[in-house]
Amino acid sequence: MRNVHKVYSPEKKGKEKISVVTCYDFGFAKVLNETDVDSILVGDSLGMVIQGNTSTLPVTLDEMIYHTKAVRRGAPDKFIVADLPFLSYQTSIEDGIRSAGRMMKETDCDAVKIEGGSDFICELISILKQIGVPVMGHLGLTPQSVHVFGGHKVQGKGEESGAKLLREAEALSDAGAFSMVLEMIPADLGKKVSLEIGVPTIGIGAGPDCDGQVLVLYDLLGLDANFQPKFLKKFADLHSIVKNAVGNYHKEVKSGEFPGKDHSF
Ligand code: KIV
Repeated sequence: MRNVHKVYSPEKKGKEKISVVTCYDFGFAKVLNETDVDSILVGDSLGMVIQGNTSTLPVTLDEMIYHTKAVRRGAPDKFIVADLPFLSYQTSIEDGIRSAGRMMKETDCDAVKIEGGSDFICELISILKQIGVPVMGHLGLTPQSVHVFGGHKVQGKGEESGAKLLREAEALSDAGAFSMVLEMIPADLGKKVSLEIGVPTIGIGAGPDCDGQVLVLYDLLGLDANFQPKFLKKFADLHSIVKNAVGNYHKEVKSGEFPGKDHSF
């Protein structure tokens, strides 16, 4: 379903949770298209997960467009949100409009996501909405600002910091964001924000009371045996499955068992 008012309906608040998965490629998008998952995020976390960088900062708009197009081909039925990467919108309102416009025009995604809660971000969200681009916000640990935070650390701890995050969430909602990601904040702050703002919150490490949850597909499948942040539940052990399968393939190639008659013409 590709209707923002249905997938991210404020009516769902307190009644039905929203499931979101971050995906970067055609093959996995095809599988997700066959599931009931509500929405796909093409996240700039691909900078780390796919490209092997230590942060999301090197990711370019062209790379995000490339991946979002692939995901759309695999998941024609899903509501797709695409991240605008670092420096594709922070430089000026005009750059933000051009980047969001390119993303919408070239990929057929349904919405874009931008990070932060400043007055500039709120103005950009409001202008993008006016010209027809639905925007998802992102607060808490905003990875494009990782160097300001000094690492991937829990944000919004303490009264002052929590109150600031709540004010920013209200401002994003007032500016016209249809939803927002809350990343790595205390669970009680996740609950407070979710209760007080009118649009659905999507949590990752923000506790059980957000209106929805998002996880990176590779993470929830357990592809990286060494990646185990506190917020991550692994729903499969793909690392072992891939290692065993490739190990068996290798053995059969060496022994000559593969390809046998069944796989020969
Ligand atoms: O880039 C990403 O995958 C994200 C989610 C983790 C929220 O922003």
